[in-house]
Amino acid sequence: KNIVILVSGRGSNMQAIVRAAQAEQWPARIAAVISNRADAEGLNFAAAHGIATAVVANKAYPSREEFDQALQAEIDRYSPDLVVLAGFMRILTPPFVEHYAGRMLNIHPSLLPSFPGLSTHVQALMAGVKVHGATVHFVTADLDHGPIVAQAAVSVLPNDTEQTLSERVLEQEHIIYPRVVRWFVENRLAIDNGIVHIDAQA
Ligand code: GRF
Repeated sequence: KNIVILVSGRGSNMQAIVRAAQAEQWPARIAAVISNRADAEGLNFAAAHGIATAVVANKAYPSREEFDQALQAEIDRYSPDLVVLAGFMRILTPPFVEHYAGRMLNIHPSLLPSFPGLSTHVQALMAGVKVHGATVHFVTADLDHGPIVAQAAVSVLPNDTEQTLSERVLEQEHIIYPRVVRWFVENRLAIDNGIVHIDAQA
């Protein structure tokens, strides 16, 4: 199976997926890492690991539609079975999302449906929730609302700041995202009426 990963920055989730794919010898290969920003740090890690990289700069396109068309063309050069959004900070147009329906995943740093959008850790601290976390979900046109595949929870501690809370959530992201991508490439995920079923197996 071919996986294309999209990043906008650091790419620590992408790194966790690349490492797990290698260490666990998945029946899949990371065909490319693509960014909308030439300065995304994640591109350096990918290149150093022999993975093809590409940049499709959103700033070079006059509209979201044209950017998404160019991005789609670049992604499809690698014939992906799965597109993984890993800190990809662009809102995607409905035709783009539709094109990858059922084969595009995202990770969001909150326990959805709580706290969609940006600054999720600040949102959680302001709401006073005692449990926070991360969610891996299939991408649909409804931002941060697609079918949920996996979640991990962390306790919110009395002295937590955005920094400390985000660090603990990120640790969990690095565990659940590779696990979900592995389930996908092993054909263990099915979506029925917006609900994801995971085929339990050894
Ligand atoms: C992660 O917290 C992810 O959940 C969010 O953006 C951050 C990306 O981090 N969407 P990284 O680029 O994977 O290190």
